Amino acid sequence: MTSITNSDAWVALVDHHKTIKSAQMRDLFQENSNRFNDNHIQYDDLLIDYSKNRINKDTLPLLTSLAREAKIDLWRDKLFSGEKINFSESRSALHTALRNKSNTPITTDGKDVMPEINASIDKMGVFSESIRSGQWKGFTGKRIKSIVNIGIGGSDLGPAMVCKALKPYGNKNIIPLFVSNVDGADLAQTLEQCNPETTLFIVASKTFTTQETMTNAFSAREWLISNLKDPAAISSHFVAISTNKVAVEDFGIPTENMFKFWDWVGGRYSLWSSIGLPIAIFIGMDNFKELLSGAYDIDTHFRTAPLEENIPVVLALIGIWNINFFNFTTHAILPYDQGLSLLPSYLQQLDMESNGKFIDREGKRVCLNTGPIIWGDSGTNGQHAFYQLIHQGTEIVPTDFLMPIHSQYKLGANGDTHHKILISNFIAQTKSLMLGKTEDEARDEMLGQGLTKRDIDLLANHKSFMGNRPSTSILFDKLDPKTLGRLIAIYEHKIFVQGIIWNINSFDQWGVEYGKQIASLVLPELRKKDTTTSFDSSTNNLINYTKKNL
Ligand code: F6P
Repeated sequence: MTSITNSDAWVALVDHHKTIKSAQMRDLFQENSNRFNDNHIQYDDLLIDYSKNRINKDTLPLLTSLAREAKIDLWRDKLFSGEKINFSESRSALHTALRNKSNTPITTDGKDVMPEINASIDKMGVFSESIRSGQWKGFTGKRIKSIVNIGIGGSDLGPAMVCKALKPYGNKNIIPLFVSNVDGADLAQTLEQCNPETTLFIVASKTFTTQETMTNAFSAREWLISNLKDPAAISSHFVAISTNKVAVEDFGIPTENMFKFWDWVGGRYSLWSSIGLPIAIFIGMDNFKELLSGAYDIDTHFRTAPLEENIPVVLALIGIWNINFFNFTTHAILPYDQGLSLLPSYLQQLDMESNGKFIDREGKRVCLNTGPIIWGDSGTNGQHAFYQLIHQGTEIVPTDFLMPIHSQYKLGANGDTHHKILISNFIAQTKSLMLGKTEDEARDEMLGQGLTKRDIDLLANHKSFMGNRPSTSILFDKLDPKTLGRLIAIYEHKIFVQGIIWNINSFDQWGVEYGKQIASLVLPELRKKDTTTSFDSSTNNLINYTKKNL
């Protein structure tokens, strides 16, 4: 395939960029009073306002031509139909099948995956209900009060993020806890909160070989047995979610306590599968199904909406515009909802592990920037930490603001004191990032405040803002399971579209494998008594210094 940068659409965008790169959004808003109307998408209660990006009426049509040139529709069909688009691991990427509410057959390796998915959902439903109702008893006959998910990456971030986001829907008698780091502090501090008689461990690992997860799982098992004084307790307190039946059995977890999933579910796309078990236990299976159903809504929208009105496509194209044409290579996720405070970390893995790649599908080095650096924090906390740089730094950071119209919590007068303050902060941020403040405006403002000419001269530049900083606002009625499912699926498909345009495989993660490989060489060296000499001088000395002082 010839590089997308040689395509007619790309060349036209390069030309278009020259005409718009110094345009000011404040002028564009003044010139077109319909700018919001022309640049937003409404889908049910979801409102996507992308008007505060550096675009004009020609930009999106040119970007959608690029999407057409990259054959987005063809790749979208391959994704949904189960074609092995993850060619470097010879796998399909069938996370969409996990929420296929239509139940139409989806085939990979000649087999319809839907019957197994449906059976898995049923098993999750029965099990989660038995925990929630107290019918499932711990070894000493007590009901389960804490569930500890032991997993990492995709086997942790999704369920952790969703359980936090949907806490208002959670069972008040169950505490979901998550252990991921191999740093013993993570497990030790979690266990301090648990009673062995009432704790259920969920060992979540697609491979059941991940070093961090298995180390934590073995230590948790030791803790349980030493407290309950009987290895037979394992079957009442441990379940596994994995594709690796043999390793699960070897660990001592009986097959009936195993929830399976499949190698065509990528780790970072797996919260819809049995990896979502902690979610189902915490919020109940009906709510978990609502989460799936929200994602299904967006799958349908992604497959059927015209490109210009297609939320994941438009967000992806605006991202491409910012990354590849303006060279804005980071992207901040700013949820104005405390429940979504883990969304930036979740999207960090989803996006950076999917599109942080420099080799294209043909095995050649890409000639353009790919995945952005994803970061962020919940508003308003971020405002008092890093927004200074977003407003006045030398780096321009495109941002996504996420905002529910209604809070799940009613506080203060009329029950909305907190929420109205939160909303006003979100709106103020998007406005000021776009508008900025000229030096003259800063001077006038200070004059009005009665400052002396000397002080005004001193402060005028410091108090002016360049503005013209791109942001997209995503509003929704409230953070409920269906909406959360929709939001996650929007980002999944956005990332997919960008991967197609960049011609990279968004579904493998060889970069992570490399770190694991090297760690497996370092660990034996740390265990040896003699001096290490086999690596470079820095690595040798780091190992030897550690050994000496351990
Ligand atoms: O971080 C790399 C990775 O392979 C992720 O893709 C995956 O989500 C995570 O490790 C955990 O892997 P597993 O579920 O096999 O333990």
